[in-house]
Amino acid sequence: MRFVDVIRKKRDGEALSEEEIEAFVSAYTAGEIPDYQASAFLMACFLRGLNDEETSALTDAMMHSGEVIEWKLPHTVDKHSTGGVGDGVSLAIAPIVAACGGKVAMMSGRGLGHTGGTLDKLESIPGYCAQISADRFQEIVKEVGASIIGQTERLAPADKKLYALRDATGTVESIPLITASILGKKLAEGVDALVLDVKAGSGAFMKTEAEAKQLAKTMCAIAGKAGRRVSAFVTDMDRPLGNAVGNSLEVIEAIECLKGKAPDDYTELVYAMSAEMLCLCGVADERDCRERVVRSVEDGSALQTFRRMVEMHGGDVSYIDDPSKFPRAKHERVVCAPRDGYIASIDTERYGLAALLLGAGRNRKEDAIDHAAGISVLKNTGDFVRLGEPIAILYSNDEGRLKEGEQTLLGAISYEERQTPRKPLILLKIV
Ligand code: URA
Repeated sequence: MRFVDVIRKKRDGEALSEEEIEAFVSAYTAGEIPDYQASAFLMACFLRGLNDEETSALTDAMMHSGEVIEWKLPHTVDKHSTGGVGDGVSLAIAPIVAACGGKVAMMSGRGLGHTGGTLDKLESIPGYCAQISADRFQEIVKEVGASIIGQTERLAPADKKLYALRDATGTVESIPLITASILGKKLAEGVDALVLDVKAGSGAFMKTEAEAKQLAKTMCAIAGKAGRRVSAFVTDMDRPLGNAVGNSLEVIEAIECLKGKAPDDYTELVYAMSAEMLCLCGVADERDCRERVVRSVEDGSALQTFRRMVEMHGGDVSYIDDPSKFPRAKHERVVCAPRDGYIASIDTERYGLAALLLGAGRNRKEDAIDHAAGISVLKNTGDFVRLGEPIAILYSNDEGRLKEGEQTLLGAISYEERQTPRKPLILLKIV
């Protein structure tokens, strides 16, 4: 097969065969196709699109480009969020689902740009090791019911190479390419069931509900074809989720959730996703799953499961027992409302960028992060504020970053005289 012919075919808008897609992906992964040809291929896919059969073939090729885990356990399940601001819910969901009988095998990523990453959050717990072997991962899932690790080199290596190329060639924002990238990795984890949280709004990849719905439907269709039980929520990311943005701040919020003390929006999403995961992986029916979730928080079993998971990963559990041990940033700044009024909208991406500026995120993969940096969100959309009233607290170990962080935050908020009704957090569910 001449790869230039495959590129030409897609360039001219024709559908590619499964063999052509598989051959392209495996040859690129093996280093047999130069980046300039792979870039042209990606751009042709981006501009011409891929139909469902092509998207399935690309997903399958990504999944089989490396190891595929086989679980000899019932009720294996994972979740995936397309990324948002303050979206640390995986940290609470994994132990809740495990405490209720699910087996959560979760591979997570690091934050990049304005969105946070579960791994960075977990690594704010001293000692937590997310880079473990597949065998150890399986042991922890079996014993504790949940393990959260980083992507291993052997899982879907094609995605790692192709994603880096997409990032550099302006070909990230394509529904079929995103679908194949996310599902290629998730299907290689080998779990029975997958619940997706597709974010919509200013803090998300997908800025509109319509785009998010399209991505959710495509991912459900492709994962369904691959024989997995899958469902998706489309959730609002036009406001930061919960009250914390930043790594250790979000770990503390997750611990609060496991004690039943998290903000309402955060708790709503955690409970809904957890119950859906339990239901989908066959633990019990919908009502029973919801009751189990609530009970696991009330009786402390979810918090104990989190503690155990952290311990098995080498983390210092005294931080779970006493979250005041997480180091506080050296510098803080209270951001105050510049006028009276209702908060009409928040450009949530800017909140993520403010957290990044403060040191909580990274611009490049190699950048170090400040685990204590971030934002406490005191007021959110729909809230009334008075001139001078605190709306957020910024934290950073670099005092020089506070001023720009404050300007970014203030520029993200618009006010109105009248209150506009808040959108529901869960906009849609797709099965
Ligand atoms: N996250 C991924 O893993 N892949 C994409 O293409 C986009 C977001």
